[in-house]
Amino acid sequence: MATLSAEILPSDPCVLLDTSCTTIAETVREGLTASPKTLPPWLFYDRDGSDLFDRITQLPEYYLTRIERSIFAADAPEMMALAACGEKLRVVEIGAGSADKTRLLLAAAADMQGRVSYHPVDVSESALEEAKERLQREMPEIHCHPQVADYTRDLRLTPCFDGERRVVLFIGSSIGNFLPEEASSLLRGLRLALDRGDSILLGVDLAPTADGKSIANLTAAYDDGAGVTAQFNKNMLVRLNRELDADFDLDSFAHRIRWNEDESRIEMHLESLIDQRIRIDALDMNVEFAAGETIHTENSYKYRIGEVEKMLQSAGFGHPQRWRDEDGWFAVYLAQAE
Ligand code: TRP
Repeated sequence: MATLSAEILPSDPCVLLDTSCTTIAETVREGLTASPKTLPPWLFYDRDGSDLFDRITQLPEYYLTRIERSIFAADAPEMMALAACGEKLRVVEIGAGSADKTRLLLAAAADMQGRVSYHPVDVSESALEEAKERLQREMPEIHCHPQVADYTRDLRLTPCFDGERRVVLFIGSSIGNFLPEEASSLLRGLRLALDRGDSILLGVDLAPTADGKSIANLTAAYDDGAGVTAQFNKNMLVRLNRELDADFDLDSFAHRIRWNEDESRIEMHLESLIDQRIRIDALDMNVEFAAGETIHTENSYKYRIGEVEKMLQSAGFGHPQRWRDEDGWFAVYLAQAE
């Protein structure tokens, strides 16, 4: 899955939800002295975290990847044709990751026009190189031009030739991992980087409904029976133990998922099961936890249909088209920069 499978080295600038800190040390100091305690989701994605995330996307409970892929399998040709509008399509992807579902879209574009130029943007050079190598081997009509950048900060796209249009892929419900106001400003920033007639293809996980997707369906996706998501969440502590010489005992923390109805979001936390003091040597710091206290590690907002249209429109994207699975669990939008 896209955005978040990047490996981020400790010396890399912070990405995603973080706006001020630049190192893992500063980030952790700030997050664990805050009240309530938080750690930013980019800390998940070292190499082990990226592998665990890839496993999450294959879990039976994690319907998002499966459903989004099924929507692409059915409708990618129509999506690519609408985005191209009779011109040549250039495909940009922000937060590209393993680019697995992307291949359905790229294949549809290649069927339509032959050669396709593909510009994945990610913070991780190694993830991009891997994706490029695989595409070169398996889809020779795709010409891959990776760009290492943090799309939440500086998104500069290479200019298009005459007769070309861009479609920017922002899939995997990555938009849900931003606060709504951040999501809106991200879309506005994206609009500024585009030309009129370019478009965005947005994958969005939908809020539960009375007669369809239940809250239990939703929480199961983030709390699977095999415990992979729990391991993914706790990998953050493993990383702090390794990189900052901390002494978190993994068994005294539990993976907790909460559905926050008021905010329409899934929250992921690490809950301390006992009163305890954690030592973080590299920060020369002790952190006290009361039993039941949590570290908030991730949000995943779930949108209602009308809200996405509104957000797109106020960011300068018009004529939204929408595709959904039969049960209405997940939606893919295509909207045009006006
Ligand atoms: N955007 C996806 C989602 O919210 C991917 C994701 C981000 C995720 N963080 C996660 C999935 C943590 C599982 C656990 O579902």
